[in-house]
Amino acid sequence: MTTTMTTKTKIKGTGIYLPERVMTNFDLEKIVDTNDQWIYERTGIKARRICNPEGGEFPADMAERAAWQALEAAKLEPNDIDMIIFASVTPDYKLPNSASVLQQKLGMTNKCTAFDIATACSGFVYGVNMADSFVKTGMAKNVLVVGSEMLSREVDWTDRSICILFGDGCGVAIVGEAEEGEASEILATHLGADGKGKEFFDQPIGGSVHPIEAHHLKDGSHFMRMKGGEMFKVATRTLADNARVVLEKAGLGLEDVDWVVPHQANIRIIETTAKLLGIPMEKVIVNIENYGNTSAATVPIAFHEAIFDGRIKRGDLVLFDAFGAGLTFGATLLRY
Ligand code: ACO
Repeated sequence: MTTTMTTKTKIKGTGIYLPERVMTNFDLEKIVDTNDQWIYERTGIKARRICNPEGGEFPADMAERAAWQALEAAKLEPNDIDMIIFASVTPDYKLPNSASVLQQKLGMTNKCTAFDIATACSGFVYGVNMADSFVKTGMAKNVLVVGSEMLSREVDWTDRSICILFGDGCGVAIVGEAEEGEASEILATHLGADGKGKEFFDQPIGGSVHPIEAHHLKDGSHFMRMKGGEMFKVATRTLADNARVVLEKAGLGLEDVDWVVPHQANIRIIETTAKLLGIPMEKVIVNIENYGNTSAATVPIAFHEAIFDGRIKRGDLVLFDAFGAGLTFGATLLRY
């Protein structure tokens, strides 16, 4: 395959899937010592969706349903996809990877490249930026990028400091070649990681170093752990830096941005970042109230909803901005 560095890329279509079961803050009051007012004031969250395992709601199942929407929007068939990048820290299995599971669920027969990435809440932005590079270098034509999470499996439902924050859900986008003369284009990308922050948010039990043993199951030490205050500080700084870096790469300014689609971890993180950047909240897409933090799925879900309710239109300048455990971070600047 010839390698060209001239191809323009764009987002051709998007899709989402949210589990049917809604868990409100009032429902949580019955499980842990918390209350709606505390959760809403500290996080901006009112409800989250929770997968129903009996109803076939797992990460690759959610991704399949979201992918059909994206394929329809992009006017593509499953076999037109020649790469699947599946971002998730809650994949269906340890093996096989969820991207391969999804390929089969979509009935694809083209044996395309399919792999998972685990960069936590930056996962979808990592995937879009990688897809952009794969298309621009001629290695793929249409990449299905997935952010799909079932965090309800990984939170300690007895720990009020963490279980109130997270939810399940999925968002996908197809990144492909833009037509000649089209305004839509991915303009600049930025990705990074800082391993120094690894202890702010981790889940050390369950990997090769510390396989899960009976005592972990007893004391709940195999669940995700977070230092919320540390995460908060680093998150605002990182999101603001991301935005500046990606705009500088594109030779554009904050005033040019029509919409910011940030990772939805906490409304106060989003508002503080907007303030640091001098961006009015009217330009920031926020849906954390309804879904909480769905990790790799927050950005594509918020992006898709804003397209479908008519806020984001073709030609608008959109900034994806994310950070996650790792610490990982990334941004995408695109003309939708
Ligand atoms: N309900 C009621 N009270 C609670 C709850 C709860 N669910 N949780 C904690 N509290 C109590 C604490 O015990 C504490 O009580 P004390 O003062 O008597 O000790 C008090 O509320 C304050 O607790 P803090 O932890 O200081 O509350 P804070 O204002 O820092 O909010 C929060 C905590 C919401 C977790 C915040 O720190 C935060 O959002 N941090 C960032 C989270 C984040 O970025 N997550 C994303 C991680 S990366 C990714 O997305 C993968």
